[in-house]
Amino acid sequence: MNETLRTLHDHRSIRAYTDQPVAEETLTALIAAVQHVPSSMNGQQVSLIVVRDAEKRKQISVIAGGQPWIAQAPVFIALVIDFHKTALGVAESGGRQVIHESLEGIIVGAIDAGIILGNLMTAAESLGLGIVPIGAMRANPRAMIDLLQLPLLTFPVVGMCLGYPADRSHRKPRLPLATFRHEECYQGAGLAAAIREYDQILLDHWQKVARGEGTTWSASLAAPYSRVYFPEVYPVARAQGFTNDK
Ligand SMILES: Cc1cc2nc3c(=O)[nH]c(=O)nc-3n(C[C@H](O)[C@H](O)[C@H](O)COP(=O)(O)O)c2cc1C
Repeated sequence: MNETLRTLHDHRSIRAYTDQPVAEETLTALIAAVQHVPSSMNGQQVSLIVVRDAEKRKQISVIAGGQPWIAQAPVFIALVIDFHKTALGVAESGGRQVIHESLEGIIVGAIDAGIILGNLMTAAESLGLGIVPIGAMRANPRAMIDLLQLPLLTFPVVGMCLGYPADRSHRKPRLPLATFRHEECYQGAGLAAAIREYDQILLDHWQKVARGEGTTWSASLAAPYSRVYFPEVYPVARAQGFTNDK
């Protein structure tokens, strides 16, 4: 196994950080590296907003439903789907952009942001930094848009805390590999049994890390996935120009 594979295998989300700052040259190296990832149509329709300001990070931790690690980690990076930038390019050559009005636009933006997030995580972890992705800033996307002064045709899709880990403790187990890797076509036969097996593995994990309140995978999904947990995403995305009607 090489270093990159070891870094990927060793991933865990970090929710406790030291107060060691992240050097500007380290941050620049990470961001320059992930700017080079592929993007659909070479559209480069994602922008990063780097937030170091402690007061702003505190506000984001509140927007995200009260997540203290956002205030604690020295850097927060918001990943923004950015069809404002591409619209300027389209207009430059005399066109009128409509991709942001289509479901395809949302898919493209989310995939491109995911590629950047994934690479940012691995690059950071390869340098001994810790990260945790933050989807919960979509709990109140309007507040994020206002805070970061985002223009129309942009949407804050996910964020990431970055800093030096105070606690790397335990690596969370995953579902059995067979639920993830399917040979030639979708293999659903063993899924229910594998899920029951994983539910028990996860309960054992919570016992081991002394988090007795931890639940099974099934139970942890039942509450959020039985309702629209971020109901502001749709109306705010529409108001930003992501009409999703094409
Ligand atoms: C897109 C995305 C959004 C996430 N949002 C949050 C979040 O808002 N708060 C948080 O504490 N963890 C968040 N996480 C981290 C997941 O909870 C975590 O990856 C998962 O429980 C597996 O744990 P591990 O990363 O330690 O292996 C997010 C992860 C992803 C990929």
